[in-house]
Order: sequence, then structure tokens, then C-alpha cells
Amino acid sequence: METKIVRINRDNFCEEELLEAADYIASGRLVAFPTETVYGLGGNAFDETAAGRIYAAKGRPSDNPLIVHIADAGDLSALADDIPETAYLLAEHFWPGPLTMILKKSRAVPKATTGGLDTVAIRMPSDKIAAALIRLSGVYIAAPSANTSGRPSTTRAEHVIEDLSGKIDMIIDGGSSQIGLESTIVDLTGEVPLILRPGYITAEDLANVLGEVQFDEGVLKRSATEPVVAKAPGMKYRHYAPKAPLYIVEGKQEEVLDYINAEVAKYAAEGKQAGILATEETRKLYPEGLVMCAGTRENAETIAAGLFDTLRSFDETGVSVIFSESFADNPLGTAIMNRLLKAAGYHVITL
Ligand code: TXA
Ligand code: MG
Repeated sequence: METKIVRINRDNFCEEELLEAADYIASGRLVAFPTETVYGLGGNAFDETAAGRIYAAKGRPSDNPLIVHIADAGDLSALADDIPETAYLLAEHFWPGPLTMILKKSRAVPKATTGGLDTVAIRMPSDKIAAALIRLSGVYIAAPSANTSGRPSTTRAEHVIEDLSGKIDMIIDGGSSQIGLESTIVDLTGEVPLILRPGYITAEDLANVLGEVQFDEGVLKRSATEPVVAKAPGMKYRHYAPKAPLYIVEGKQEEVLDYINAEVAKYAAEGKQAGILATEETRKLYPEGLVMCAGTRENAETIAAGLFDTLRSFDETGVSVIFSESFADNPLGTAIMNRLLKAAGYHVITL
């Protein structure tokens, strides 16, 4: 299949530029598009064949449900039943934006889109291209992250092309995703709102609006052997992993530097190159090894935005191993470490 690439300037585009993409979606074809979190792989949410094609293109297990993207908060009632007051409150505060809500699905939503579940995930993205595409297509857009299943999510069109070129109909190149981590997912179907996936909108942000929120057990997991079942089906799969084994090194900054530098030297002595996932503050303090910088600790958001990009970049270098600093003390640390721990298969070296 030939994949058409369309470049759109997020800050200056007219609707005509999106009409073909909108028509593709409406007619059951697949279009990858930018959102403020990560790129999405979109198809008509009410078209079971389109859903099937999304799973096939990503190589994703079909029991892993898709998020339905809307352009108007008023459309909640078309997709969900028994909507609690909390959903309207959250929509008012955080939509459009990086928040996904799990609600009881309406009959209109096919089970092919929800991975067989009776619940549906709904998000209203703030990215202007995403919002315009949904509106112009005239349908709701089911979209998982636009990456091959198991690889880091994509934050630039180049990464989408790498994973999905030849497998989908169109890729809209709208530049970099600003946030860089997937949306926060909150399940509103139980007694207490439950965070199934941490993201840019934090537990504190949600608690400020809702009062009480809890984390699903699987979210705060720190080791591969903890026997917890994640409530978001997608969170149980191996994720984000770079090709080389990745170790997170935690401790006082000086100890971390010493440990990583000693390990890098050991690899070098064997003729192997080690990668280091560092920050602007520390990059110069690693004399050997291949250093990649996720962002600066002065601005938490830069690290969130750079994480997946950095993990992907290591794959192009052929390093034998990667050592990463920890970002647990970052204000977005819950979300960042959730992704990094998965990428590392929960390998943490605590000094
Ligand atoms: O930021 C995002 O959310 C991006 C952009 C494209 O919007 N999308 C995204 O989709 O990250 P995906 O499919 O990669 O991740 C969706 C997660 C999966 O872990 C899935 O299992 C969970 O949401 N999920 C979807 N529907 C669910 C449901 N009804 N109940 C529980 N978890 C659900
Ligand atoms: Mg994903």
C-alpha cells in the first residue's frame, strides 16, 4: 500500500488542506495524525473494518481497546451511557486536552473498537489539526498511538513513517507533539475515579476537581514480579522498549554518575559502546559512552516531551546497553517513570 504524506503547519493551515484526510477517515481508510500528546493512528470509530485494520497495522492484540476521539464535548452522550456528573466536571476543566475518560459504552459503539469491553475510552484532543480532522470527517475517530505495538509511541511524523509506512493510507505531518506522553486515563465507572495511566494531567490536578482519586494498582508498579493485573488492557503488554537492554540507575547524583561511568568503561574495555540517557545538567559529566539528552531538569515538560524520541534514537546507534538517570523527582515523574520503567522491563539499579 502506498502511504500518502501530507504536511500541515499547525499554526497556519486552512481546512481545505485536511479535506482529503477527512474523506479518507469517513470512507474507512486509516490516517495517522498529530495530537498534543503523541501521534494517533485514526480510523472511523463506528466502522468495525477500520478498527480491524488499525489492529493489523500496529500488530496490536485485538483485546486492547482503542480511544475514541471527539471534537465536541457534547458528543459524550452519543458514545456513553449512565454518564456520571464527574465526567462533565472533568470535561469542563480538562477538555480539550490530554485526558481520557472511561465510561459505560453506548450501543452505538461497536465492540470491535472497545476490544470487546462494555466500556469506552473517550478523549477530546486540543491539537488544532486533530480537532479539525475529527470535525471535518463527520465521524468519531478511534486512534491508538501511531507506533508498532511494543515500540515507543511516536511524537514526530518521521517516527510514524518508520513504523507504519506502507501499512496505512495517509500520514499527516504536523510537527512535534508538545506533551510527548500519552493522555492520562481515568476510569469513572467505579465508586472512586481510578487513574489507569498517569500523564500530563496529574493525580493532584484530578483530585482538585474531583476530591478523591486513586491509582489503579498496576500503575505504580516498580518491579516485574509484582503480581498485579492492570485494569487498562494495554498496560499489561511489553511497551516502549528500545532494542538494547535499558537500566534505570537511582541514587544521589554523584553516585549515579560514578556508577554509570564505571559501567560504561567496563563495556568500552570489551569493545562495546554503552548509551546514557541523561539531561542537560549532566550530559557533560559522562566522558565516555553515547550520551543522549531527554531534556532539562529545570523544565519538567522537556523531559516528558523528549523521552520517546530519545528512546527511539538509541535504536539507530547500535549501543549494547543503555543506562538511564531516574526522573522520579520530576513534577511529571509519575507519568515519566511509568513509561521508563516499562521500557526498562522494570530493571532498576538502586545505589
Ligand atoms: O494520548 C493518547 O491517549 C493517545 C492519542 C493518540 O490520543 N492515544 C493512545 O492510545 O495512547 P493507545 O491505544 O496507545 O492507549 C490507550 C490505552 C490502552 O492502554 C488501552 O488498553 C486503554 O487505553 N483503554 C482503552 N479503552 C479502555 C477501556 N474501555 N477500559 C480500560 N482501558 C482502556
Ligand atoms: Mg499506545
